[in-house]
This record gives sequence, structure tokens and C-alpha cells, in this order.
Amino acid sequence: MEIQLWRSILCPYELAVKELTVKFEHIINEHKQNDLYSPIEQVRGRVKSVSSILEKMQRKNIPMERMEEEVEDIAGVRIICQFEEDIETVASIIQKRTDMVIKSEKNYLKHIKQSGYRSYHLIIYYMVETIEGPKRIQAEIQIRTMAMNFWATIEHSLQYKYKGDMPPHVTERLSKAADAIISLDREMSSVRNEIMDAQNSSQMQSNLVKDILSNIENLYKVSNKREVMKIQDEFLRVFRTKDLQQLERFHRQLDIIAEGYRAQAVYHNM
Ligand code: GTP
Ligand code: MG
Repeated sequence: MEIQLWRSILCPYELAVKELTVKFEHIINEHKQNDLYSPIEQVRGRVKSVSSILEKMQRKNIPMERMEEEVEDIAGVRIICQFEEDIETVASIIQKRTDMVIKSEKNYLKHIKQSGYRSYHLIIYYMVETIEGPKRIQAEIQIRTMAMNFWATIEHSLQYKYKGDMPPHVTERLSKAADAIISLDREMSSVRNEIMDAQNSSQMQSNLVKDILSNIENLYKVSNKREVMKIQDEFLRVFRTKDLQQLERFHRQLDIIAEGYRAQAVYHNM
């Protein structure tokens, strides 16, 4: 196949990877903005290289005309979670979406691969708009924890290094490391609630501060400057206490003050 042709074949997949990445990143932001813990920690995407596509077609005896149907991972998205429990949550988010249709799934968490590989895989159908009209493509979504990702990344590099001929002592070590990853994930899950609480408060604090500062800024436009300076000093004092409840109280009081000014403005405009 000519180079130009490859480029046009891969073009919709590039769009799909970009769109999917944006959509999953948006899920992270939506959670954060609503003071919610995000089951997604990080998203990565890639379009399979021509050389990897060719290698897979040779390995699986896939003819050229079956490529788009049978190479299901030309578009690939990897979703990294903090905790094993999050994987299921992400899978059900995907399941509920109308823009992603699940074709198949592989649960390597329940059925760990011989290598020790763990991950949850989904193949989805996804529509993209091209200059020739809509096109339905397939994409592979891999969902795994940070710890699983760490293991898979190292194992993948070693596989590449030994080109499928890994010495037994390396295999042995990887297998031990895989066991260690399982207990690490388990250990982390057992402190999940505590970690989530800590992260939630940090996110809540960040949202509160953003809100308060925008309120102060608005007040600065409409009210007595010296008054606002005093409010700002008070905010800094409360902020220094590192006490979320105090910050919340301050936020409510500020809201009342701002509301008062809004009422006044309405009154003046009547
Ligand atoms: P390929 O392995 O891609 O040829 O497709 P497949 O049909 O066998 O699907 P499978 O679910 O086995 O693998 C899909 C993808 O998961 C791979 O391309 C890798 O990214 C990842 N993967 C699967 N098995 C392993 C493994 O043992 N180690 C690592 N590091 N990654 C794996
Ligand atoms: Mg495979």
C-alpha cells in the first residue's frame, strides 16, 4: 500500500483517538468541578504505527482487505485508575454512553494472563465524521491501575528487548513482580477511603478558593475598595488555618455579602 493511502486510512483513527482522549479527560474535570472523586486518573491515546499494524497482520494472517475489521486496536486509549475498584466504575461509565458501543470485552483481572498481565479491555465502535461522511471505527480501551500499568510497561520493554525469547530468570522475576503488584493494589484498596477523603478535601479546598477569589474579585468591582481589602485579609487568615470548615464558613458569609450587593444593585436599577 502506498504511503499516502496509509495516511488517509489512519486519519479517522487519529480523530477518534483525539476525541476519545478529550472525552475521558472531560470526565475527570467534571468530577473535579463537582467535588467528586474521579475514577479516572489519567488518559493516554495512540494510533498504532504502520509497522505494528503490519506485524500484527502477519502474525495473525490478516489479509489487507480485512485490516480495519480485524485489527481492532488501530485506535487505542489507555485509562489509568488509582484503585482496582475504579476500573469497574469506568467500564460502567463507558457502557452507559451513547457515543461508544461495546463490541467485546476481555477481563484480564479475572483471568490473569500467563505472563502476569492484568487489565480490563474493551473494544468499542465509535463514529467519527470525515470529509466523506460518517465512519464507524473500532477502538481498544485498556483500563488498568497505575500499578498494573507500571508492570505492563516494564514487561513490554523486556518483551521487546528479548523479542519473544525471554530468559527463564527474567520471566520468573516478572512473575514475582506481578504478584507484588497484586498485593500492592490490594493494599492500596484497603486504604482507599482514607486516600479518597484526603484527595476530596484537597479538591474541595481548591474549588472553594477559586470560588472565593472570584467572589472577592466581583466585589472589588462593585463595592468599597477598603472593605474588599479587609475581606481579602480575612480570607488569607482563614486560608492559613488550613481548616476546610472555616473556609466553607467564610465562603458562605462572602456569598451573603455578595448577595447583599446584588440586591442593592437591583434596587438602584429599579
Ligand atoms: P495483540 O496482543 O495486540 O496482538 O491482540 P490480542 O487479540 O491478542 O489481544 P490482547 O487482549 O491479548 O492484547 C491487546 C493488548 O493488550 C496488547 O496489544 C498489549 O497492549 C496488551 N497486552 C496483552 N497481553 C499483554 C502482556 O502479556 N504484557 C503486556 N505488557 N501487555 C499485554
Ligand atoms: Mg495478545
